[in-house]
Amino acid sequence: MTTIAVLPGDGIGPEVTAAARRVLEAANPELRFVEAIVGAAAYRERGEPLPADTVQTCAAADAVLFGAVGGPGFDHLPPEKRPEAAILGLRKHFGLFANVRPARVFPGMETRSPLRSELVDGMDLVFVRELTGGLYFGEKSITIEDGHETVRDVLIYRDYEIERVTRFAFKLARMRRKKLTNVDKNNVLLSSQVWRRIVIEVAKEFPDVSVDHLLVDNAAMQLVRDPRAFDVILTENMFGDILSDEAAMVTGTIGTAASAALSGAPDAKGFGLYEPISGTAPDIAGKQQANPIGAILSAAMLARYSLGDAKTADAIERAVASTLAHGPRTRDLDREGGVDTNAVTEAIVTQLGALHALSS
Ligand code: IPM
Ligand code: MG
Repeated sequence: MTTIAVLPGDGIGPEVTAAARRVLEAANPELRFVEAIVGAAAYRERGEPLPADTVQTCAAADAVLFGAVGGPGFDHLPPEKRPEAAILGLRKHFGLFANVRPARVFPGMETRSPLRSELVDGMDLVFVRELTGGLYFGEKSITIEDGHETVRDVLIYRDYEIERVTRFAFKLARMRRKKLTNVDKNNVLLSSQVWRRIVIEVAKEFPDVSVDHLLVDNAAMQLVRDPRAFDVILTENMFGDILSDEAAMVTGTIGTAASAALSGAPDAKGFGLYEPISGTAPDIAGKQQANPIGAILSAAMLARYSLGDAKTADAIERAVASTLAHGPRTRDLDREGGVDTNAVTEAIVTQLGALHALSS
């Protein structure tokens, strides 16, 4: 039996994971779901953000549906006790090195973008963000040197870490429009020089994919100048964190942005962790105002990459597209006429049922 671990976490996490679960249950009644605590919710209950039994629940599952972690009031804690340590710990523990983050403008959504609609009409790009290395996982220290507080976050990459995520990105590009943009800071960072050298080396295995290289500051500009010019964007952990939020906002809202964290290849079925990229949104948490679509599209990615069920994934994406085009919408997308999280979720479930009826 296929088991999905559900880790709702903090803020809007519980609301949006419930929505994603509802859609998966409607799409496939055979799935089994097991919930576990994580983040600030786990810290309050157990004094740690990622209890061992939560890791075990994930290990015993075929995939993880993750909400969000974090919240106000934890800044005083050491890094390993902060809610964010939970998601970083899960990524590391399960070797989820490839973070797939699509940024796509669905038909009818062009006018929601902060950019002019003609600039984003048809925008469809995807980040492959390296997720288990770089600044996030290097040594950290605060010492006193020459009488001054001295702080270090070490940026570390091993060649094989760069190679495997690069190969992942090329394979994904092959499944799409065969265009890969590598983003680095080659003009300043030694790590970027090695990164770029390896990308150029791996590119030889994929002669059918076109490659270009952009410095990260320039990439930040190009993403708002001409987001449709991109297909697959490959980048390291920290740059990917920042640029994927920028690209999500270009689509009109971060509320529809999905992600997958994977340890294998984009064309092979395997374990993965799926989460909306919007975070905890404490200002609207618990109010049923969150946009569930980021989580629901993450569930579609779960179906695609962990269940090997492209049919269900396509059906969920079509149901989302149709709901985005015709409404109802949450308030991030429709300030006056916006409805609540449940209403959007039920509209998507209804669409899914209609698609199912059509196909059977
Ligand atoms: C994300 C988040 C995380 C990250 C935080 C919560 C640690 O911002 O998934 O993008 O920086 O990776
Ligand atoms: Mg982020």
